[in-house]
This record gives sequence, C-alpha cells and structure tokens, in this order.
Amino acid sequence: MRFAALALLALPALAMAAPSSKRENWGKEKEHDDMHDHKEYDDHHEDKHHEKELVKGVFHFTSTYTAWAGPDQVINNSQVAVPGEPGAYGVYKFGINADEDLICYNISVYISGDYQSPAVTATHIHEAVRGRAGPPRIAFPNPTGDSPLTEQGWRTSYGCLQGPFETGVLANGTDTAEGFTLAQIEANPAGFFADVHTVAFPAGAIRGQIQLDESAY
Ligand SMILES: *[C@@H]1O[C@H](CO)[C@@H](O)[C@H](O)[C@H]1NC(C)=O
Ligand SMILES: *[C@@H]1O[C@H](CO)[C@@H](O)[C@H](O)[C@H]1NC(C)=O
Ligand SMILES: *[C@@H]1O[C@H](CO)[C@@H](O)[C@H](O)[C@H]1NC(C)=O
Repeated sequence: MRFAALALLALPALAMAAPSSKRENWGKEKEHDDMHDHKEYDDHHEDKHHEKELVKGVFHFTSTYTAWAGPDQVINNSQVAVPGEPGAYGVYKFGINADEDLICYNISVYISGDYQSPAVTATHIHEAVRGRAGPPRIAFPNPTGDSPLTEQGWRTSYGCLQGPFETGVLANGTDTAEGFTLAQIEANPAGFFADVHTVAFPAGAIRGQIQLDESAY
C-alpha cells in the first residue's frame, strides 16, 4: 500500500464539484493546452456530461462516490442484521482514478469507542450489496479526533491509497484484497459499502452503501 500525499489537495475541489463550475475550472486549468482540445471539449460538452470523467486541478478522478453511513444497516458475518452504535453516523467521500488504481478518501465519522478489527485497520470498503455482509477490500487509516474515546465525537481520516491493496484478513488463505482493483467499484458501486468497526460494535458501528456522485458528471 502506497500513500500519495499530494493527492490530498484534490479533495476540497472534489467536495465543491458541480456541473456549473466544471467548465470554468476546466478552462482555467487547461489554459496552456492548445485550442483544439478546448474546442473539442466545447463540442462534446453535452456528451461529456454522461462520461465518467472529472478534471480538477492536476488530479484526475474517473469517478467519485459518497457513502452516508448509519447504525441501521449493519450486517454481521452470519448475514444477520445487528444494531450499530445508536446516534452514530458518518460520511465517506471517495475519488477514484481507476487507470492508476488510486483512491482518495475523506472520511468523517461521529462515533465513540476504540477500534477493533481483524484487518490492519477498522475502517473499510467491503464488497457486498445492502443487506449482506462481505469481505473487506480496502482498509483505510482509522479516523482520529480530539474527543475522549468514551464520548461520541467527530473523527476524520483523509489521504490516498494505491493498489495493490492489502487488508490483512485472509479468506481461503489469501488476503481479501488479493485480485481486487478499483475498476470493480466503478463496474458495480452498489456492490460495495463503507463502514467502521469498534470494540462495542465489532460487526460495524456504522455502515453505508457507496453511491456514485451523479451530479459531479
Ligand atoms: C474533507 O471534507 C470536509 C467536509 O466534509 C472538508 O471540510 C475538509 O476540508 C475535507 N478535507 C480534505 C483534506 O479535503
Ligand atoms: C450475528 O448475530 C446473530 C444474532 O445476534 C448471532 O446469533 C450470531 O452469532 C452473529 N454472528 C456473528 C458472526 O457474530
Ligand atoms: C472460500 O472458498 C469457498 C469454497 O470454495 C467459497 O464458497 C467462498 O466464497 C470463498 N470465500 C471467499 C471470501 O473467497
């Protein structure tokens, strides 16, 4: 797992991504490119709206996602719905560059308690549709904050990771990230969810399915 620290800068722009500002930003950032590219963009502006392409600054995401996570969607490894932490919630923002197998993340969770997971961290993207449990595919650095562990408070984690990924969880003798690439999320976003595991809620304190940020394209 490698960190690409520079890519952190992309996230504020990502958060503000909107169709109305896209063209203006694109023009600024591409001002040293030749006019042909610019004209081509204008000509295909309507088509581009439906393409998985987003250009912000020097970073390029082929898709971006949000997962709104709460305590009511947690499924344990026996595929049984179990409660998460009451009153806890979180928002997971992801920008993916599938060509580079790179994912940038900006995770904010409102939870309490210490983390617990058999994986290398307790903050994950798992592969499973809503209502099902499934193996972790990516482990993110756990969110941190200033509140005492015993109280609910905001914790954040942001940065970027590049594949090949490793979760530290073995299934049938191989790491659950083995063979996983971010293109699989782009192919089927609804088949993945984000969560975080704590001592009191080992199946998940909160969980939410990943949703494509339609308005960003
Ligand atoms: C993460 O998102 C929050 C808003 O949810 C924003 O305030 C913060 O600046 C973002 N962090 C980074 C590193 O982009
Ligand atoms: C899942 O929850 C059910 C109901 O509480 C429990 O019987 C089962 O042991 C749990 N499975 C795991 C893997 O924790
Ligand atoms: C492990 O192997 C079993 C039997 O082949 C299979 O049903 C199961 O899906 C595998 N588990 C994972 C996580 O790949």
